[in-house]
Parts: sequence; structure tokens; C-alpha cells
Amino acid sequence: MSGHLNRSAFQLTSADVVSQARICREHFRLTLSCPNFADAKPGQFVQLSPETDSSQPSHRADATDSVDVCDEAIRSTATLPFLPRAFSIGGLRRNGNGCEIDIIYRVVGVATQWMATLRPTQTVSLLGPLGQAFPIIASKPNAYLVGGGVGVPPLLWLAGALTDAGINTTAVIGSTTKELLPLAHQGNPTPADDAGEARLTSTEFANANTPVVISTDDGSFGFKGNVVQAFQAHLSANNINPTSAVVYTCGPERMMQGVAEFCETKDYECYVCMERSMACGVGTCQSCVVTVKSETPPNWRYALCCTEGPIFERSQILWNQ
Ligand SMILES: Cc1cc2nc3c(=O)[nH]c(=O)nc-3n(C[C@H](O)[C@H](O)[C@H](O)COP(=O)(O)OP(=O)(O)OC[C@H]3O[C@@H](n4cnc5c(N)ncnc54)[C@H](O)[C@@H]3O)c2cc1C
Ligand code: FES
Repeated sequence: MSGHLNRSAFQLTSADVVSQARICREHFRLTLSCPNFADAKPGQFVQLSPETDSSQPSHRADATDSVDVCDEAIRSTATLPFLPRAFSIGGLRRNGNGCEIDIIYRVVGVATQWMATLRPTQTVSLLGPLGQAFPIIASKPNAYLVGGGVGVPPLLWLAGALTDAGINTTAVIGSTTKELLPLAHQGNPTPADDAGEARLTSTEFANANTPVVISTDDGSFGFKGNVVQAFQAHLSANNINPTSAVVYTCGPERMMQGVAEFCETKDYECYVCMERSMACGVGTCQSCVVTVKSETPPNWRYALCCTEGPIFERSQILWNQ
């Protein structure tokens, strides 16, 4: 597997907010500028927190930038999170030793509420890059990216890396309804109702030359059904040979389990991006265990999601345990 990195390469650094934008009803894109950031690959993540020596206010009702991306209700109640939170790197653009990093997030609690208040010129603390990357299997000509919700960010970056490696890449992205899709579609063709056809409908995936199948549970956009059904329908319509393809999935655990179990029945190579609450992100606190198979009795063990993961090969995972 070519993607796995040395775990000692991470560092704690300060990052400046470059921009903040709303992508859909509940997802935002925060772009950060880091003067120093070690080599990183898709699938890796950062631990984000307020700067410890910062006297910055937790919210800026007086933010001077014109983009009002965060609701007043969020702005007025945001407080500083005590522990850092893990976020996948959704995109990374190098400029010398430094880089710009995209983090795509959904507001669900204290830390993401605080993130939604951030504006250009503010700084945050960033630990990374952390964890293992998605392996890129150069010997297989086709890749499928199956994701939903906040599972989409690492797949966006991965799409670019796969197409750069000459791998024919297709994304299958789902949400409950159109308003919750964390992708832009303006000016692009509409997605097909038929999951068999992938189109360059999403601006972000089109930038990585990756056609997409969109599914919504309520049928408000694209294929009507969940993303696992859309993925299965796409594969059977296109008669893909399992030995020619690798599947990468990131999103809610039940969704990834559905993708992994389908891949097992059809014998597709598949990698899942597991999510756990992570206090330290570097293998110290033991808060992030994933139950995986083991060759020695009792034939299972705990793996640390932050250092052995978050990317695991599908057959390693013991789901629901
Ligand atoms: C490797 C990794 C990559 C991630 N990438 C992203 C990303 O790109 N974008 C994004 O929006 N989020 C991502 N997350 C999830 C994010 O770290 C959590 O949602 C984080 O807790 C949000 O902080 P909060 O204070 O806003 O919410 P919290 O107050 O911490 O949590 C809000 C609610 O979500 C639940 N929750 C929190 N964390 C988890 C978790 N890890 N698993 C299951 N339930 C949880 C809590 O129990 C609570 O109900 C990632 C997590 C991991 C481990
Ligand atoms: S987050 Fe602390 S050990 Fe994994």
C-alpha cells in the first residue's frame, strides 16, 4: 500500500483563516493558511483547536468581512472548545513549504459552532497531518468513491490524487435531501435520475475530472434512494469487473458498513475511513478504539483509529462491536 506514512511527521502549528464559506444548509468550508505543514496525503486529518495563547474572542459579532456565513444564533452562543477536534483534510494546495488547507464541516456542537464564527485574520491551532492515508493502487484502473455528509471532504481530495495517478475515478455521493448535499452544482448539468450514469455535475468533483452519481433519500436531486443503493445500481449498470476496481468510502458508519458488506459479497477491494471521538489524535489517550480482526485468540483486538486509521481495509473491521 503506497499511501501509508510515517506517523512522526506531524507538527503543531498556527494557521490563519483565509476564508469561510457556506456550501449548503449545514456545511461550511474553512480555508486555512499554514506556513509550515509536513507532506500529507488524502485520508489524513488534522486536530483543530483555538490557539491556547490567544486572546481572540470566541465570536465576532463585529466581523467586517461581507460574507455572512453563520447564523446569528450560532454566533451569539459559540464558546471555545476545550479539546481539539478531528477534521479530514478536504483539499491541500502547496505554496513553497506552506499550504492552504480546506476543512469542510457540519455544525453539530461546540467546536463546529466556534469554527463557524471564524473570519479571515483570526488564527487557529492545527496539529497534523495525522493518521494513515488512503492507499492508491496504481495496478487497478478504476476507483469508486462512495460518501455522504461530512464523509465527502477526504474523497474530494482523493479524487484529485487518483485522477493525477491516471486512475479512472467515479464518485457516488448521497444525502437525505438536496439542501444537505455538501457540493456546488451551479451551472453544471443536473445529475441523472438513473444511477447508471455519472456526470460532471458537481463543481468540486469536476475540478478533479471526476463524474458523480448523486442520490437523495427523498428523490429531490438525482437518484432516489440511499447512496449504497445508488452505488450498487451504478456498478451493475456498468458491468464493472471487481478485479479492476478499488472502492473508497467515507461517511456515516452504517453507510460504510453497507458499502463494505456489498464489496465483500462482490469481492471488491475497499477502504473505509472510520470516525471516532479523538481527544489527542496521536495515540496517547486511547479514546478512539476500533474493533478489528486479529489472527491470535480471541481473534479481535482494539486498533487506535488515530494512528492505525482512520483508513482501514474493509475486512479488518468488526462492525457493530
Ligand atoms: C478522522 C476524523 C475526520 C473527521 N472529519 C470531519 C470533517 O471533515 N468534517 C466534519 O464536520 N467532521 C469531521 N469529523 C467529526 C468531528 O471531529 C466531530 O463531529 C467533532 O466532534 C465535532 O465537534 P463539535 O464540538 O462540534 O461536536 P461535539 O459536541 O463534539 O459532538 C456533537 C455530537 O456529535 C457526536 N460526535 C462527535 N464526534 C463524533 C464522532 N467522532 N463519531 C460519532 N459521533 C460523534 C457527539 O456524541 C455529539 O452528539 C471527523 C472525525 C474524525 C475522527
Ligand atoms: S485520539 Fe488519543 S489515542 Fe487516538
